[in-house]
Amino acid sequence: MLDPVVWDVGYLLSASMFIIGIKRLSSPRTAPSGNRLGAQGMLLAVVITILKMQSEGIIGWELIVAGLAIGSIIGYIMATRVEMTGMPELVALFNGFGGAASALVGLSEALKRISDGVPDPGVELYATWTAIGLSALVGWITLSGSLMAMMKLKGGFYVPFSKKDDRGRNKWVSFPTWGPPWLNWVKAGLLLASIALIILTIQNPENKTYVYSLVATSTLLGILFVLPIGGADMPVVVSLLNSLSGIAAAFTGFVIGNNVLIIAGSMVGAAGLILTFIMCKAMNRELYDVLFKAFGGSGEKDQLTRTKVGSDPEEVAMVLDGAQKVIVVPGYGMAVSQSQHAVKEFADLMESYDCEVLYAIHPVAGRMPGHMNVLLAEANVPYEKLIEMDDINSEFPECDVALVIGANDTTNPAARTNEGPLAGMPILDVDKSSVVVIIKRSLSVGYAGVDNDLFYMDKTMMLFGDGKKMMNELNSAIKEL
Ligand code: TAP
Repeated sequence: MLDPVVWDVGYLLSASMFIIGIKRLSSPRTAPSGNRLGAQGMLLAVVITILKMQSEGIIGWELIVAGLAIGSIIGYIMATRVEMTGMPELVALFNGFGGAASALVGLSEALKRISDGVPDPGVELYATWTAIGLSALVGWITLSGSLMAMMKLKGGFYVPFSKKDDRGRNKWVSFPTWGPPWLNWVKAGLLLASIALIILTIQNPENKTYVYSLVATSTLLGILFVLPIGGADMPVVVSLLNSLSGIAAAFTGFVIGNNVLIIAGSMVGAAGLILTFIMCKAMNRELYDVLFKAFGGSGEKDQLTRTKVGSDPEEVAMVLDGAQKVIVVPGYGMAVSQSQHAVKEFADLMESYDCEVLYAIHPVAGRMPGHMNVLLAEANVPYEKLIEMDDINSEFPECDVALVIGANDTTNPAARTNEGPLAGMPILDVDKSSVVVIIKRSLSVGYAGVDNDLFYMDKTMMLFGDGKKMMNELNSAIKEL
């Protein structure tokens, strides 16, 4: 049998690969290699575990290889098929899988210890059962909460034998956002009950009933935790659940004595929590409000009473003729219409006329962090042209034309008032540029359901239509100038 130090060195190498991988994720340029390095670190950890099991004569490593192969195929298919607009759902589902893995390891360790017989009470027993209990609590909450979040983001749950729609597909039945104030008391009760069950499992480590009861209370808690949260807040919750999946993995690392799991889990836990707070700040929301006050896509939308005459691409092309500086403001509609390549073509055209083109990136433009960066990078827009909100806002007063593509809430001056769902949210100061051109299909509201004064300003030209179609028409009109 090999010296155990060999395995520890291997795990240390794999943990270092995670740390360097995460560091590389901080810049769009190095992010793809960081992502690859993290995945390779995980593969290394699995390979070391298999070799260690073989060397110690532990049976069952074939199951790990089979799981790795099946999981890789499923993950590859899901990740390559997903559309950019469906990323939050996929991330939610992957978080759920992470929570499930930890919860199942915790459960199997608990059942194994029960069938092996009750050891002598002592610090080790208490510590192990506490870790088992916590990994179960956090793991099952993460699994059920993430599945719930995935279904809410998807717009409902799939009913296999439901009446088919007109395209012959089974229907997704919409999921309610429901959260009366007393539900918070039920959640508090379930949390207390779960903690009590963890204590009971420690005191009675031979009793399976407490273990299964903990599974039930934690699962229910996850469902009720996500049920009242509305659409706009859902990506924040997904990020928090991501953090919880890491915390569950770290607890599981304590249960099975695996350092690399503790390190990787802690990093995911910390990174998810940091991202959660960044998103809350960019939406001007308190985490407490997101979690305990039903809001965000509660369905209430402003009634539209005003009208605006639309412009055509030729008119806009004439305004762009001679512009020295244009700032492109992408939003969720750019993702929906997949117009990023047409946007890049627009920038190339304008630059060929000696016009400076920059991109203004709001931290919560789209539906997930970095949504716009990923789309624009896919269209080969240079990273240095993507300017964060705090840096670009001072440039709008010197900008000839701000071209807004499918962005709404992130440009809405209503956020500067103290009223309504957008109150206090930092926005892109698009209204300070000389001319504003907005491409969207109608005057309809954005995610927060608030009418946008920007549409009705004299300096604003509305190009009504699908983002990609209008960008292509605009590009053709510019070429004919
Ligand atoms: P939104 O305010 O959601 O507005 C997007 C606009 O795109 C809509 O008003 C829609 O208008 C238009 N649109 C949709 N499909 C289109 C198409 N095919 N072609 C052209 N336009 C289309 O987007 P935003 O400005 O990016 O703001 C993001 C919102 O999401 C914020 O409220 C933010 O708080 C919320 N949110 C974001 C995140 C992250 S991390 N990104 C997380 C949580 C919440 P029409 O229907 O008229 O076309």
